[in-house]
Amino acid sequence: MPLVNLRTVLDHAAANHYGVAAFNVNNMEQIQAIMEAANETESPVIVQASRGARSYSQDNYLRHLMLAAVELYPHIPVVMHQDHGNSPKTCISAMENGFTSVMMDGSLLEDAKTPADYDYNVKVTQEVVKLAHAKGVSVEGEIGTLGSLEHKEPSAAPKAAEPHDADLEQEPEPEGAMSHLTDPEEAERFVADTKVDALAVAIGTSHGAYKFTRKPDGDILAMNVIEEIHRRLPNTHLVMHGSSSVPQELQDEIRKYGGKMNQTWGVPVEEIQRGIKHGVRKINVDTDNRMAMTGAIRKVFSLTPDKFDPRDYLKPAREAMKKVCIDRMVAFGQAGHARKIKV
Ligand code: G3H
Ligand code: 13P
Ligand code: ZN
Repeated sequence: MPLVNLRTVLDHAAANHYGVAAFNVNNMEQIQAIMEAANETESPVIVQASRGARSYSQDNYLRHLMLAAVELYPHIPVVMHQDHGNSPKTCISAMENGFTSVMMDGSLLEDAKTPADYDYNVKVTQEVVKLAHAKGVSVEGEIGTLGSLEHKEPSAAPKAAEPHDADLEQEPEPEGAMSHLTDPEEAERFVADTKVDALAVAIGTSHGAYKFTRKPDGDILAMNVIEEIHRRLPNTHLVMHGSSSVPQELQDEIRKYGGKMNQTWGVPVEEIQRGIKHGVRKINVDTDNRMAMTGAIRKVFSLTPDKFDPRDYLKPAREAMKKVCIDRMVAFGQAGHARKIKV
């Protein structure tokens, strides 16, 4: 089957009470890891690319890799999603390159740093919804600002080069910055004003590995906000960003083979499962896969320093990412649903 849009998959997820992981990709091995995991678990999948990913991989490579994925696994519904589009222009170029879903992140201005006001957010999101829906492409919006409740500065979406501009370097995102929790009343108004297909909400999660300085409880991970938003918007698909769990074993593996990582905590899988009971349908996971691949590569370099064929370390890296994907697909409940989605 061809790539499907986000709405198709999330409507099925809502009707059948499960969540769907959205995994970030930058290269062939990551796409292969996701597709192999989806094939083994019979899961529908969301593959997403940030602006930085599109710039790194180049849209043409990415588009053809995704076409290869659907050609190899015709029974798996695959969504190709633009993660954190910073402007209508970015979303339009994603649609031109075959993406079937776009996130217009109008919670921040085009610099992907400065928190935007409500009217700006509505304006850019409405513009993208109009263009996207005319083409059958789905739209995710965001209200509230991602970031930690443990820190003091505003957060930013991942900063990235414009698509095709491979010369511009990515800056590391400021992890663990302050959140403006989503206001449930504003969320209700935003969905009515924009008609988005999915809504990303801020509940104290942040991008990257350093989310929490302790196992999160309700003081720093506001799952109650999700519950209130779902109460007001029972038919809206909610999205959790910054939802890597940063498992202890992946931290340990990186440290064991010479990596430097301070002790940190992510979003426990059981909290995500609680979210899924309250309208969360799309769960963004990137960091866990990055860590799994890095740990596996470090292991090969450390234990067999004589190896220099990239396949010797990319294969274990791909396997390690596949394992994370399978774990999440099973935990979120998407496993077993691939063939049930009628497109
Ligand atoms: O949104 C965050 C994802 O982890 C993508 O990060 O902009 O470094 O590709 P990136
Ligand atoms: P993590 O950094 O927790 O994997 O979050 C990824 C994300 O939200 C991508 O949009
Ligand atoms: Zn995100």
